[in-house]
Amino acid sequence: MPASILMTRTLPDEALALARARATVDLHSGPQPLPKSELAARLGDKDGMVCLITDTIDAQTLAGAPRLRVIANVAVGYNNIDVAAATARGIVVTNTPDVLTETTADFAWALLMATARRVVEGDRYVRAGKFTRWEWDLLWGADVHGKTLGILGFGRIGRAMARRARGFAVRVLYHDALRADLAAERDLAATFVDKATLLKESDFVTLHTPLLPETHHLIGADELKMMKRTAYLINAARGPIVNEAQLVQALKDGWIAGAGLDVYEEEPKIHPGLFSLPSVVLAPHIASASYETRGKMATLAVENCLAVLEGKMPPTPVNPEVLRKSH
Ligand code: GLV
Repeated sequence: MPASILMTRTLPDEALALARARATVDLHSGPQPLPKSELAARLGDKDGMVCLITDTIDAQTLAGAPRLRVIANVAVGYNNIDVAAATARGIVVTNTPDVLTETTADFAWALLMATARRVVEGDRYVRAGKFTRWEWDLLWGADVHGKTLGILGFGRIGRAMARRARGFAVRVLYHDALRADLAAERDLAATFVDKATLLKESDFVTLHTPLLPETHHLIGADELKMMKRTAYLINAARGPIVNEAQLVQALKDGWIAGAGLDVYEEEPKIHPGLFSLPSVVLAPHIASASYETRGKMATLAVENCLAVLEGKMPPTPVNPEVLRKSH
């Protein structure tokens, strides 16, 4: 009998066809996420699952899925899944790193540029019919070239941010729990500094850590006060890395100059204070949302799921120890 998979959203044709060729697919076509009780009910007899970050897979849900062997998240981040509970049950969790690295870095740079150069404010101005003549002092912003970029979290996406900095003659500082090797630092022209130095010296601070207990509220009032009054904060990682209420205060009181945000602390809820601040660019969590990359993420997630169901090591496991133990 082919393995059975719960897929919580219709994925692009290639990924869906791949899954259907090698498994029986119970497809929830969306767009609303499955309510928790329905997700649990449909997972009860499944061997595998392909899910999105809007699906919360907690210990209780896993307890009701005795046959489940793999949870393939279509995202690089996997804070929606209780990985410890999955590991304890011998369930493999997989994510989709690499395929979205460059696309996400493109977007974080887009947010940075849009925020510094007031692109969205300009768009609103034109649409409002206010562009009646060229104005000398209209929408002045901050230069990007020649400035200092501080990258907090120097994994794949953080490094892709650094690579792009060279084209703008931007100096790169970074901080991470793990220092990169010297060859990587040299290649990327990136200087390792402590977090306080990064906050004090950077004109743009961009966040690229996963959401972990140690990175929850990594940026709060103390950190925002350390930043330059002319600096900008960019977050295309996870909302709870920033204390959103304290960010609103920082922006209102001028501790920093602006922010470009793709993610929010209680997504999709957004702190009401952010809406009235013109110095903020708000995006709806779309950093990896290019045609090409979303297709690759979906296919990789299905490949991960099928590999586990077929007794192989998946391309990108989060908890490979589950398989190493059983092999
Ligand atoms: C998106 O947020 C992802 O983690 O891939």
